[in-house]
Amino acid sequence: MKHIPVLLHETVSALALSPNSTVVDATLGGGGHGREILRLLGPKGTYVGIDADPTALANVSLPTEGARIILVNENFRNIKSVVTEHQLQPDAIIADLGWRTDQFEEGGKGFSFHNDEPLLMTFGDPSKHLFTADDVVNEWGEESLRDIIRGYGEERFAGRVAKAIVTAREQGRIKTARALADIIAAAVPSFGRPSKIHPATRTFQAIRIAVNDELGALQEFLKEGFSALAQNGRFAIISFHSLEDRIVKRFWNEQITSGQAIRLHKKPIVADDDERTTNPRSRSAKLRVIEKI
Ligand SMILES: C[S@@+](CC[C@H](N)C(=O)[O-])C[C@H]1O[C@@H](n2cnc3c(N)ncnc32)[C@H](O)[C@@H]1O
Repeated sequence: MKHIPVLLHETVSALALSPNSTVVDATLGGGGHGREILRLLGPKGTYVGIDADPTALANVSLPTEGARIILVNENFRNIKSVVTEHQLQPDAIIADLGWRTDQFEEGGKGFSFHNDEPLLMTFGDPSKHLFTADDVVNEWGEESLRDIIRGYGEERFAGRVAKAIVTAREQGRIKTARALADIIAAAVPSFGRPSKIHPATRTFQAIRIAVNDELGALQEFLKEGFSALAQNGRFAIISFHSLEDRIVKRFWNEQITSGQAIRLHKKPIVADDDERTTNPRSRSAKLRVIEKI
């Protein structure tokens, strides 16, 4: 399935770009936001597209004429070294958090509940990660499993799921995404099952967040990105779950109360009814934007 960019026009117009702007798109992905940004940049503008997943850079299609384009395979937590290396001061930074639809469906990384894929769940090269989903599921203690499933997955049956994983692995290593999904599904009681999502969704989210240190990366990115941003520069983040949104909201509030930024909207921007109907992924999206002063 093709990835449809979320809150496209709302996000790009909130960046208040001029043709000469320098923009860091910290989540290049399929280039949906990038192409819209590049439409507004002139030959003196610069677009930097960052993605931790090398397949994004390999497959993206961006216009060949117009602004200078720099593509970097890097975790956005390292935004400071990216802008320093290219001697840039961004006028706008955007991140559309999370993952692309095709990473889940075609990545072969252990995200599909119905496939016998190895349990990796890493954004990029698994060898660059301290641990993979396989290590979490087969090596971590029951308490640690329960804590991440509850904390990162907000799964109310975290205790039962953790216990079921530990019991199942006594019979042999849990090797595939399908095997893990089946163990989790059997552990979540039918009365507690979310109606619209697979019962393993929250636990898979939790493991993925832990493997990629997604919340730690976001915090570092916000801090380093804000410090790299030019005066009057805009910083826009689209988040998809409450853990990320809370981090963004708290960081924005800190900058605003310390007089370093102004809030541009009272409430986060969300998708309208049309977008919610055509792109279900947009239903949980929240866009927050600040301006550095
Ligand atoms: C939702 S997609 C972005 C889609 C893009 N805005 C578009 O319209 O096509 C998120 C992308 O960010 C990347 N990503 C997620 N976390 C990252 C991180 N910490 N550092 C760099 N890239 C990251 C993912 O690999 C994915 O390609």
